[in-house]
Amino acid sequence: MSDTPDVNASTPQRVPVIAIDGPSGSGKGAVTQRLAAALGFHILDSGALYRLIGLAARKHQVGLADEVALAAIARQLDVNFVATDDAEEPLQVELEGETVTRLIRTDAAGTDASAVARLPLVRDALIQRQRDFARAPGLVADGRDMGTVVFTDAILKIYLTASAEARAERRYKQLKDKGMGVSLHDLFLSIQTRDEQDMNRAAAPLRPAADALLVDSTEMALDEVFALVLAAARASLGLAATVDQPA
Ligand code: DC
Repeated sequence: MSDTPDVNASTPQRVPVIAIDGPSGSGKGAVTQRLAAALGFHILDSGALYRLIGLAARKHQVGLADEVALAAIARQLDVNFVATDDAEEPLQVELEGETVTRLIRTDAAGTDASAVARLPLVRDALIQRQRDFARAPGLVADGRDMGTVVFTDAILKIYLTASAEARAERRYKQLKDKGMGVSLHDLFLSIQTRDEQDMNRAAAPLRPAADALLVDSTEMALDEVFALVLAAARASLGLAATVDQPA
């Protein structure tokens, strides 16, 4: 037996990870939740981490361009994700002991998140925290750079997109269903601004990984998208022999 330590033995990288990236409103969140439930996998909602940093910054009166102070917030972020029985909101989010599940979902919180997410020191501060979500039996990771930066070894990378109009309409419906008053036109403009910012920043810009499966859901119902992604996930896991195959 070699006495060279296996440096990978205790790292979570060998846990199967499915990376789902794409722009705001592409349906990543819903697909991630359904896929994780179907496979019994954990979920990483990486956007929530950036939203929480924005929220913590507002709470502690730190400017959204103060990269060093924001990176310190990111490193010390006192956050808790608590599983619930609510299919719509399967994770209750707590920041410094306070429930902020709804507060982080507002459009303003998304805009703040996009602003802090441009900053390389903030992104670096979150990398290990995100990788630590990879625990057995597996992880579905939702974000912008899951396949390109955080989980480059993911067994499956999906890039989910849709037209800006379709995404604005979906977001509008989602927020309305949650009782949050928004205008469709404002949401459309906000989605365009966020796309522009997330795709054109220097640090980890939103783009498909070279080995990602591209899914344009503009004309697809959520059930169709989910069926396609689940089939791809099962095929990938079959190759990795980590789930039971039908006899
Ligand atoms: O997925 P979301 O809408 O909750 O993400 C909010 C913002 O956070 C998004 O506009 C860009 C940023 N983000 C990011 O830069 N990298 C990620 N992995 C996830 C989100």
